[in-house]
Amino acid sequence: MTRSDISEFLFPGQLTRYAGASGDVGDLLCARGVPTGAICVVADSIVHANGLTADLLEGLAKAGYEPQVFADVIGEPDVDVVTRAAVAAAATNPVAFVGIGGGSALDTVKLVAYSVASGTPLRDLKGPAPLVPGLGPLVMVPTTVGTGAEATRVAMFAVDGAKRAVLSRQFVPELAVLDDALVQRLPAPVVAATALDALAHSVESMMSSTSNELTWFFSGEAARRIFAALPAGHKGDPKARSELLYASFLAGVSLNAGVVLGHSLSYVLAARHHLPHGVGCAIALPYCLAYNQTMSARDGKSLAESVLGQSDATLRDVAEAVRALTELVDLPTDLDAYGTAAEEIPFLAQSVVRDYPRPTNPVPLESVRLGVLLEHLRTGDLRGAWTAMGELA
Ligand SMILES: NC(=O)c1ccc[n+]([C@@H]2O[C@H](COP(=O)([O-])OP(=O)(O)OC[C@H]3O[C@@H](n4cnc5c(N)ncnc54)[C@H](O)[C@@H]3O)[C@@H](O)[C@H]2O)c1
Ligand SMILES: [Fe+2]
Repeated sequence: MTRSDISEFLFPGQLTRYAGASGDVGDLLCARGVPTGAICVVADSIVHANGLTADLLEGLAKAGYEPQVFADVIGEPDVDVVTRAAVAAAATNPVAFVGIGGGSALDTVKLVAYSVASGTPLRDLKGPAPLVPGLGPLVMVPTTVGTGAEATRVAMFAVDGAKRAVLSRQFVPELAVLDDALVQRLPAPVVAATALDALAHSVESMMSSTSNELTWFFSGEAARRIFAALPAGHKGDPKARSELLYASFLAGVSLNAGVVLGHSLSYVLAARHHLPHGVGCAIALPYCLAYNQTMSARDGKSLAESVLGQSDATLRDVAEAVRALTELVDLPTDLDAYGTAAEEIPFLAQSVVRDYPRPTNPVPLESVRLGVLLEHLRTGDLRGAWTAMGELA
């Protein structure tokens, strides 16, 4: 395959973006021919408690639907919460499934819809899931500026403490609704972590061997917008927040190419230290770039130019810029605060290779080289990591 070949590019059936759009989901479903009946609404618990589901629910009722709310999604979902939601949903025979919240609620509703349509026990789902007739329709209303789950074929959940990805083209929703009003009161630390997750999606997907011209287009757009908007968005600027919501969607579309080593590192670090997903991704991204510095020189140069919007930028500049942005929004850039011991590093490196292999990473994952990388990450020595990864190439 060359960069201009595209084997498959998925995009939501419809994108709707304006302040207040969540109140119009009922009308949008009517317009798409969804018959009246029960609607399974899976909501993040804080989002629901803060009243951010009110417009959605009112609009659904006005359009003649009966919303049935499951609002027990508290943090990143595990198999138990998803199973409870699926059992509740199945009892109401829903005509559509709506997720409202961050990636946690959106991933939950994807898995709920899959379970209701297939009857498959959720514990059995891992990796690519078989197609099932009659899944959905799915509607996704994000309230964080991070995962882009409203554009992806991925659903993440934890089983026995380990993070799992389930993949299905049927998880790309019929309707993605970006309502700027929902992210205006998002706490600053959540803005920081989730926007850096989106930045990791855009930059990592550019390194993936399955990327193509179109995924690069979305990646570059997303990354430049996040660099430009995050400082003001973090402080609460309404336009910048709207921009970040849009950029996280664009980065979600770039995930047609998938993520690479940075997300594997972040899953292992997050499991060890209970870090929010975006915090692990932000710490890992500069080191992912260091590891992959030997990717094709032409691709590395165009990645750097596209992400930073400067013609003479290098991959190293991207890593430094990501780190500076992470510091600017008050997130950690090393593991100092978490007390990772040097003796743990070989185990963590092996876990990256064994539990989260990345055949699409441009440089093969090797546990010895990853151990050296992780030792530099532990202490925040990006310069040392860059030199060591260059020498070990
Ligand atoms: N499906 C995908 O393609 C994909 C991609 C990347 C990550 N993920 C997964 O998504 C999950 C993380 O999602 P996330 O980063 O969006 O975080 P999240 O959904 O866990 O939300 C983070 C926190 O923000 C709160 N919150 C959300 N919206 C709010 C609002 N508008 N106002 C106030 N508080 C709000 C939530 O209650 C929660 O405490 C992880 O499980 C991750 O693995 C999925
Ligand atoms: Fe992510």
